Amino acid sequence: MDGIRDKTIVPTVDIIPRPEKIERRSGQYCLDGESEIYADTPNLWNADYLRNLLAPSTGLPLEIQSDRLTVKNGIHLVLNPGLEPLGHEGYRLEISPDAILIESFGTAGVFYGIQTLRQLLPVEIEERVSVIGADWRIPCLLIEDKPRFSWRGFMLDDGRYFHGKEIVYLTLDLMALQKLNIFHWHLTEDQGWRVEIKKYPALTEIGSHRAGTSKTMLGKKHDGIPHAGFYTQDEIREIVAYAARRNITIVPEIEMPGHSLSALASYPELACNAGLFQVATHFGVFPDIYCAGKDRVFNFLQDVLDEILTLFPSPYIHIGGDEAPKKRWKRCPDCQQRIREQGLMDEQALQGYFTNRIAAYLDSKGRKVIGWNEILQEGLVESAVIQYWAGSRQRLFEAVCNQNRFVVMSSYLSAYLDHGYNLMPLSLAYQYEPIPDELEQEHAGSILGLEFPLWSEWVPDRPRLDYQVYPRLTAMAETGWTSKDKKNLEDFLRRLEKFLVRLHQLGVGFAPLREAQPSIIRQWFGIFSIPLPQTRTAR
Ligand code: ACM
Ligand code: ZN
Repeated sequence: MDGIRDKTIVPTVDIIPRPEKIERRSGQYCLDGESEIYADTPNLWNADYLRNLLAPSTGLPLEIQSDRLTVKNGIHLVLNPGLEPLGHEGYRLEISPDAILIESFGTAGVFYGIQTLRQLLPVEIEERVSVIGADWRIPCLLIEDKPRFSWRGFMLDDGRYFHGKEIVYLTLDLMALQKLNIFHWHLTEDQGWRVEIKKYPALTEIGSHRAGTSKTMLGKKHDGIPHAGFYTQDEIREIVAYAARRNITIVPEIEMPGHSLSALASYPELACNAGLFQVATHFGVFPDIYCAGKDRVFNFLQDVLDEILTLFPSPYIHIGGDEAPKKRWKRCPDCQQRIREQGLMDEQALQGYFTNRIAAYLDSKGRKVIGWNEILQEGLVESAVIQYWAGSRQRLFEAVCNQNRFVVMSSYLSAYLDHGYNLMPLSLAYQYEPIPDELEQEHAGSILGLEFPLWSEWVPDRPRLDYQVYPRLTAMAETGWTSKDKKNLEDFLRRLEKFLVRLHQLGVGFAPLREAQPSIIRQWFGIFSIPLPQTRTAR
């Protein structure tokens, strides 16, 4: 009506990652005793998720109804084929005074609409007990949103320290909140094998234990405090299902041919020279790796992968491939014979053979290989995806431009969450752009997305993990989702304040902003110092 202005104060809408399009409207929706949830059949699990999210703190019944016409003050979760242009992860969220509508082309999009709705509610919504006297009002608006990248990943290294399933579940919950969709799970390392393999019980009987941990990279002396742990297959199945409910694919990493001392300690015949190997008690790069000349190594790895494939439905299986010294291969008669037989140039090419043989096996099972950029060699199978962390960018661009190869970006100096904040401040994490300038626009689509890895040499426990990860992962989540032209550091920092209150409410720690965003002088100091133990030096 002319002359009448709505005086409702619309609260600020502080959502991370920032949505594509927000249209504010007047009025508010109030979640109350009348509110009900309606979901079409494909979204019933989303309805359950939403109810579990809202019911404990609000203390409201929030019945799930199957008859849309009778739903009162409803939250509607529905598929809408007309929203195909937003993709299966995009969504439309409309909040009016008497209804909330979340619709998408796919159930993943509805899930992300729920995550946005969650951030529009006061942070007390995260309480797991009923909050007395709270006011559950949500500003009316229309949001249309979709992700920039299809690969929005976080990597947890469970090899250096075993973190356990409670941390994994929490990680998955927090990833969902930030609309991250790939959990790269680094499960095998020199310092520990973390996944039960039924056919090779020694991998966990022996390989998941180490005698102690050295606090320096070179130190042979360790603290004498045993460290152990692994996930049973039943636990993994539960975790994978939990992740799937949150639209998260778990990409397991079974590292080869390097970083494999825990496997060699369990089955020494997999090395070039069978010896007495021990699960490593210090960190670094070790010369003993799987032999590339013995067929039993490939039989072993194929058996391991067979079990991995039954546990993880992911289309991608990570095989590591980084930091594999060739010292043993140079002197091993079996490796040398393989080089001759296959007509390979050298030991470098032998790693190419190794990768391709495993990739072909996974391909025969309908899965694709992903590996660190060291697997990028002449003749690498077409389907292999590269995770770039360090080394020649030129080579990477050639692979993208000449071979149409797909890439996930995790640059060492801009994306490694194990670095100290002096070296990698929050602003750098936020400004990390996964599509390098050198790549022509026509090839930009080859960059599937980005991933922030947390290597855990110096991350023995949850407080350290929280400190390293937050708020940098939140910054990365925005880069993964929000289009480049909508990103703005200042605006992000403003929204982050509220997000950090939510993290606190969830019991999650983070680096305070004055530490996450240190002065320029400290940042320079960080580049020249070797800040142990907060930061890794080299791997
Ligand atoms: C790596 O950091 N070695 C992939
Ligand atoms: Zn060998």
